[in-house]
Amino acid sequence: MYKSHTKDPVAKYIVNNSLRLNDVQKSLINETMKLSYAVMLGSADSLQLLANMCKMIRAKKTLDIGMFTGYSALTIAQVLPPDGRVVTCDVSNQHEALAREHWRRAGVESRIDFRVGPAVNSLRRLLSDNAGEAGSYDFAFIDADKEGYADYYELCLRLVRPGGFIAFDNVLWGGAVLNEADQSSSTTALRQICQKLHADERVDVSILNSGDGVALAFVK
Ligand SMILES: C[S@@+](CC[C@H](N)C(=O)[O-])C[C@H]1O[C@@H](n2cnc3c(N)ncnc32)[C@H](O)[C@@H]1O
Repeated sequence: MYKSHTKDPVAKYIVNNSLRLNDVQKSLINETMKLSYAVMLGSADSLQLLANMCKMIRAKKTLDIGMFTGYSALTIAQVLPPDGRVVTCDVSNQHEALAREHWRRAGVESRIDFRVGPAVNSLRRLLSDNAGEAGSYDFAFIDADKEGYADYYELCLRLVRPGGFIAFDNVLWGGAVLNEADQSSSTTALRQICQKLHADERVDVSILNSGDGVALAFVK
């Protein structure tokens, strides 16, 4: 019932034996699946892992780049302490009402700060002199336009503290990254971000075959 990007029976087995969703998460998934762009919904199993990792590092301040219907923001907000914060960014506020309804039902609306507009601008604003939030975030989830991933990475590297981590969704892109004939801008950008992370001494790196592929950069 819940979205997994793969028909792989091993992946299905993993989801069937590990996914835990509360009623609010189930409702938001069901409502999102009715939308024409439902394919953009983050994988519930990947987000559960990221939420568990946030719990493990006792994350308090997090970034969510690409809000859509608010599922990733909801899932992370739920594991933060009451004074925790998710700054979620989206170029569109089309699904804000649906997101807010579910954040409210989960009792986490006060932890979520939605910034509408291009994410690069929202992140730059967090770094500006007045806000001055460099090095104060524990975690960032990058899941907006793929062509923007390299810029989001550099900005998140300035915002996330050493010991925190940055996750990039969709890095396997349904396997398209393996097809060299596919030179589309999104596929190329996803290949490039993985190559960049692999060579980047500022972070430790892992790529997981979870959902549509998740790359993790652990900030040194
Ligand atoms: C894959 S969806 C995000 C899914 C969401 N994280 C979830 O868990 O369901 C990508 C979102 O990025 C947004 N987006 C695209 N380009 C953007 C940009 N330049 N700045 C901010 N958001 C952008 C889209 O409007 C869309 O809602």
